[in-house]
Amino acid sequence: MSNAPKIEIRGIDRKFKKRGSNEDFYALSGFSLTVREGEFVTIVGPSGCGKSTLLDILVGLAKADGGEILIDGKPINGAALDRGIVLQGYALFPWRSVRRNIEFGLEIKRVPKKERRDVSDRFIKLVGLEGFENHYPYELSGGMQQRVAIARSLAYDPEVLFMDEPFAAVDAQTRETMQDELLSIWEKTGKTVIFVTHSIEEAVGLADRVAVVSKSPGRIKEVVEVDLPRPRRVSQVRDTTDFNIITHRVWELLQDKDPAPLNIGGPAVDISEAILDDAAI
Ligand SMILES: Nc1ncnc2c1ncn2[C@@H]1O[C@H](COP(=O)(O)OP(=O)(O)OP(=O)(O)O)[C@@H](O)[C@H]1O
Ligand SMILES: [Mg+2]
Repeated sequence: MSNAPKIEIRGIDRKFKKRGSNEDFYALSGFSLTVREGEFVTIVGPSGCGKSTLLDILVGLAKADGGEILIDGKPINGAALDRGIVLQGYALFPWRSVRRNIEFGLEIKRVPKKERRDVSDRFIKLVGLEGFENHYPYELSGGMQQRVAIARSLAYDPEVLFMDEPFAAVDAQTRETMQDELLSIWEKTGKTVIFVTHSIEEAVGLADRVAVVSKSPGRIKEVVEVDLPRPRRVSQVRDTTDFNIITHRVWELLQDKDPAPLNIGGPAVDISEAILDDAAI
C-alpha cells in the first residue's frame, strides 16, 4: 500500500425529498473519508445511514448535492470503468454464460476477442470456476454467482473496487471462504477497495481500517485502525485477542457508546456473546 490518497471523499451531502411532502432530508451530510492507494476500507453503519447512497455517488450513478470526490486527485465526473462495483445480490446477466458475464466490461471497452478470452480465463481460474465457463447464472450456487460478480468487476481492471454487502446473501460457510478468497485476490491485485457490510466481524476481518458511519444523516463517526497482520485470512484472525478488541470497539461505536481506548496487546477484555455472534447491525 502506498501513502498516496487514492480516493478523497470531501464533505459529501446528498438529500432526498421526504415521501409525500416537499421537505428535504439529508441521507448524507458532510461525509468525508480518504482512502490510500491499495487500501482495504470497510464501512459499517446502521441501516439507512446512507452507505449505498455513498456508493452510488462514488460509482457515478448519482450526484452529490454538495462536496466532491477525487480519484487520483481528479474530481470524478459520472460513471467510469476505472471504478468497479459489486452490488448486493449478484446482478449477473442471466442470459450470459459465466465467461460472457466476466467479459462484459471488456466488450464495452472493445477489447479484442482473443484478449478477452485470455483475461476471462485468468479470472475464472482466480475465482476457482474452471469447468463452469459455459454455465449460466441459474445453474450456479449463490456463492459461485457472487464469485462471477467479483471476477466480472476485476476483469476490466478497475483501479478501485466498491462492494455493497457482496456476501450478505450467502451462507456462513461460503461467506468465510469468499472473504478469504477476496483477501487473496486483493493481495495479488493491489486494488483499492471500499467494502460495505453489516457484519462487524467481516468489517474487521477484511479491513485495514473500518469506517463507522453514524445514523442518518450519514457521516463518519470514527475510523478504526485494524492493526492485524497481513497477509491475513479472516478464518485465522477471528479468534485472536486483538481481533476481539477491535471488534468490540466497532460494536461500541455502533451502540453509540463512548468507546474505551484501544488496548491492543494488553490484557483481554471481556467480550459479550453479542459480538462473537457477529452481531447484525
Ligand atoms: N432514491 C431515493 N429516494 C428517496 N430516498 C432515498 C433514495 N435512496 C435512498 N434513500 C433514503 O436515503 C437513506 C439512506 O439510504 P441507503 O440505501 O443509502 O442506506 P444504507 O445505509 O445503504 O442502508 P442499508 O444498510 O439498509 O442498506 C434512507 O433513508 C433511504 O430511504
Ligand atoms: Mg445499503
